[in-house]
Amino acid sequence: MRVKLLQRKYSNILTALRLVPEEKYKLNIEQTKKDIRTQGLAVIVASNPRNPTGQAIMGEDLKSLVALSREKTTLLLDEFYSWYIYPENEEDYGQSLSSASYIEDVDQDSVIIVDGLTKNWRLPGWRVCWVLGPKNLISALSQSGSFLDGGANHPLQLAAIPLLESEHVKQEKIALQKHFKAKRDHVLKRLDEMGLRVDIPPTSTFYIWLNLEHLPAPLDNGLTFFEELLKEKTIVVPGIFFEINPSHRRDLFSSPCHHFVRLSFGPPMKDLDMGLDAMERVLRRAKYEGMRHFGHNCKCSEMKRVADCLIAFTDRKSWDGKGIQM
Ligand SMILES: Cc1ncc(COP(=O)(O)O)c(C=O)c1O
Repeated sequence: MRVKLLQRKYSNILTALRLVPEEKYKLNIEQTKKDIRTQGLAVIVASNPRNPTGQAIMGEDLKSLVALSREKTTLLLDEFYSWYIYPENEEDYGQSLSSASYIEDVDQDSVIIVDGLTKNWRLPGWRVCWVLGPKNLISALSQSGSFLDGGANHPLQLAAIPLLESEHVKQEKIALQKHFKAKRDHVLKRLDEMGLRVDIPPTSTFYIWLNLEHLPAPLDNGLTFFEELLKEKTIVVPGIFFEINPSHRRDLFSSPCHHFVRLSFGPPMKDLDMGLDAMERVLRRAKYEGMRHFGHNCKCSEMKRVADCLIAFTDRKSWDGKGIQM
């Protein structure tokens, strides 16, 4: 009974956060309000900026979302990519995006923000993160943390404090935004030259949500594209791995994510070019040798297992340039 109830709540969450390309993967705040009313939605969990679409809820939309927390809905927002935004104007570098700007009373507004050193500070191995929220929630979290696993590594928490110093943070943000914007533009330009279409270029994060629909089958599905690139020692993440599929009730092959892959422009430029060269080779093979060699080993469950191991590996490695993850 309890499991059923949880499943129903879970599918409510999925319905409320439907993200459609026609709306540039933006959260439709009016629809969300309607879903809260009609489905009794109690909690919204989202990453913002958003992995994998590279879009973000900002400005008035974010303000309205936070306002919902003063009614009956709790917001749990993962803001690990809050510095990865790419301003058009020079004077706008050094900002970040956070729902914290719209919170009126930290103890009354039902907003929980999670952030940490992994992405903004590029220190995934440090394993230090933090949670902002109402005081009673924070005490409950620290009590359960120390009960469950003893909590975070204290020396590393102490060593992280200087990294949070505001002038240091500002310089880091400026450097990061310039560096990653240059990498984003470079990758988008090369994809365009290859005829690979990015319908909605990323305005945030370091991910590109690439539509393969216009490629000839079977290269138009994310799993085959992933498999062919693996042969070239390059990893992209098939779109369906981002499809939330509680109890495996949905047919992933009819998922709207099926024709997508997620590329990361996190690695150094040299590695990105190696990955893009690999894509060029795959497309060239498709053009000159045809499709008969493509897509024969593509069993969803097996590929997912392989990719899970590889992603776990390359996510950690990609920052120091040893793994090529795109
Ligand atoms: C949305 C989001 N939040 C947080 C993280 C960081 O997770 P961790 O620190 O466990 O590597 C990631 C990493 O990929 C992420 O995509």
